[in-house]
Amino acid sequence: MKKSVDLIYFSWTGNTRKVFEFLQDELERRGFVTNLKEIKPKRDYPYAFWLIFSFIPNLAVEINSVEISSKVIFLGMPKWTFNCPPITAFLKKADLRGKTVFLVITYGGFDEKRYAKSMVEKIKKSGFVPKILLIKRKKIESNEYKAIVSEWINEIEDLMIT
Ligand SMILES: Cc1cc2nc3c(=O)[nH]c(=O)nc-3n(C[C@H](O)[C@H](O)[C@H](O)COP(=O)(O)O)c2cc1C
Repeated sequence: MKKSVDLIYFSWTGNTRKVFEFLQDELERRGFVTNLKEIKPKRDYPYAFWLIFSFIPNLAVEINSVEISSKVIFLGMPKWTFNCPPITAFLKKADLRGKTVFLVITYGGFDEKRYAKSMVEKIKKSGFVPKILLIKRKKIESNEYKAIVSEWINEIEDLMIT
């Protein structure tokens, strides 16, 4: 039977979406069945509001319902200051017990490692995070991300067969 994976992401300006659409193509090409699911805030806000929210740890906003249907999940998000409220909302609701979560974070250019560590700490309370991929916005804009993602999948493909 083909292995099913959930590809769950939030993307405000489209970078993480681009990465996840490519991730979907690559995984399907390798024989996985993928379920691409977007986390969507019920309300959108102007940049200044999101920026202020991103400074408030643990603040969540209302989002759509995103069901988890596979044991293996790819969770994608932008790096936002200290907090990305739509992702926090998802994590507050999601039951990640027994799930393997591959984390994908896109970022502009600073503080991404600390952020990734804090996300892993949050997810680790219930799920298991074997690998993280950090992709700089510049690599997405220049299309270099495709090679980076393909190489990363080569690295983790064995870990996906749980
Ligand atoms: C509110 C906000 C806060 C951000 N904070 C950071 C930051 O602290 N460090 C960083 O490197 N990039 C930061 N960025 C840039 C995003 O992480 C980056 O552009 C990312 O690729 C956006 O992903 P998206 O297009 O999927 O929304 C921030 C962007 C926004 C909108």
